[in-house]
This record gives sequence, C-alpha cells and structure tokens, in this order.
Amino acid sequence: MNIILLGPPGAGKGTQAKLIEEQYGYKQLSSGDLLRGAVAEGSALGLQAKSCMDSGALVPDDLVVELVFQALDSCRNSQSAGVILDGFPRTVDQAKTLDEKLAASGTAIDRVIEVRVADDRLVERITGRFTCAKCGEGFHDTFKRPAVDGVCDKCGATEFTRRADDQAETVKARLVAYHTQTSPLIDYYSVSGKVVGVDGEAGIAEVSRQIEKALNVGAAS
Ligand code: AP5
Repeated sequence: MNIILLGPPGAGKGTQAKLIEEQYGYKQLSSGDLLRGAVAEGSALGLQAKSCMDSGALVPDDLVVELVFQALDSCRNSQSAGVILDGFPRTVDQAKTLDEKLAASGTAIDRVIEVRVADDRLVERITGRFTCAKCGEGFHDTFKRPAVDGVCDKCGATEFTRRADDQAETVKARLVAYHTQTSPLIDYYSVSGKVVGVDGEAGIAEVSRQIEKALNVGAAS
C-alpha cells in the first residue's frame, strides 16, 4: 500500500508516519529527512538544496525527485507492508512524476491522508519542536515533553537538536509555499477519491486513531 501524508509544516506528518511505521510495519519515507541527510553529508545535491531549505522555499523538483526515487526503490526491495510518503509530493509536477513511476511498476497511490491544522496553531508547534540527537525521536516543549526532563523516552540519550528552519520567520515562508504550491494536491488527488481528511488539531493519539480508521488498520478500523 502506498500512502501519502499531506499537510502544512508542523501538522504532525512526521509524528504520525513514525507511529504507523512502528505499529504496522510500513516504511516512512520523509523527503525532508532525506534532504537534511544530503545537506549533512555535504553532497552536491545537499549543497544546492540548503539555501532553499534555509529560506523556507521548496527545493527544485528535479533534485527532490532524484533523492526520493532512489529511496523509494530501496523501500520497495524491503519487506515493509507499504510506504508512507511524508512531505512528498509537494507540487503537482512531483505528483505527476510519482504517478508515472508507480504506474511503470504496476502500483499507484492508494490513500492520501490530509492532516488539517489551522495556520495559527502551526508556528507554536514548530518553534517548540526538538528531536533526540541519537535516535531521532520527536518532542515538543508543551505538547510532548520527555517523561524525565532532558532524557529521551526512547533511547535514554541526553542530547537534543532543533532544526535550523524552525524559526518563526522561516515557518511563515514555509506556510506560503504550502498554500501556493502544495495545497493544489488536495484537488489533484480528490478527483480519484483518494483523499481522507483528519483533524490534525486533535491530540496525537486521536489523530492516530483517525488515520488508522482511514487506512483500515488497528482497533479503529
Ligand atoms: P519537511 O522536513 O518535510 O518539513 P515540513 O513539511 O515543513 O514539515 P515538518 O517536519 O516541519 O512538520 P510535520 O508535519 O512533520 O510535523 P511534526 O510531526 O514534526 O521539509 C523541510 C524543507 O525541506 C521544506 O521547507 C523544503 O525546503 C524541503 N522539502 C522537503 N520536501 C520537499 C519536497 N517534496 N519538495 C520540495 N522541497 C521539499 O510535528 C511538529 C511538532 O508538533 C512536534 O513537536 C510534535 O511533537 C507536535 N505535534 C505533532 N502532532 C501533534 C498534535 N496532534 N497535537 C499537538 N502537537 C503535535
């Protein structure tokens, strides 16, 4: 099964993708994580992507598509129950290219989960976010604090990081990019009846329950 998690920055796509991955054996494929990996490696692609990411703009389609398709090929060779695309596609051109690639291997996008959160809630979500430097578990200053302050719930590490593009001004630019370039995907996928909306302003567990229902997995299905 191929699933897209669609929604504005900070809607909870990464949080929910990790939960589905852990509970149901799907493989999360996050274009943002792939791009941050390329930047950290200092690859040519990473160097080209960095200035766009730092400003909150989208990275050019050809660069992202190359990176995501490599990872998609590796995912499809693994034993996962399916792929959860988190942050990709982000433009109608990316979506069309993805459809062509999947069709060539006899598959398609099965479901698009649209995580809906109003803009005024997103800045608080993003500026309060931090991540375990060792295992990547995500936390929030208000909404998801570690059980013991300063200690990762998952791996016990004590070092945390914050993303360079999580400043309030950059978040505003990312929201503009979402509304102008990414939200048209809702219409693009609605035509084929694949979009299911979930209330991303509910608590993390309730959003999970709504997604499980949309995917027909777990107790809520
Ligand atoms: P990317 O890394 O994809 O960032 P994003 O889409 O802006 O999304 P975020 O990771 O910020 O948010 P999220 O929805 O995953 O929320 P999270 O679960 O962390 O992209 C970064 C950049 O890379 C882009 O700006 C662009 O430059 C480039 N890029 C990436 N993909 C691209 C593409 N396809 N094309 C072109 N360029 C691309 O949650 C946020 C916080 O809220 C967390 O602290 C979490 O604990 C908390 N939280 C989550 N759910 C809830 C809830 N229900 N209630 C309360 N708090 C919650």
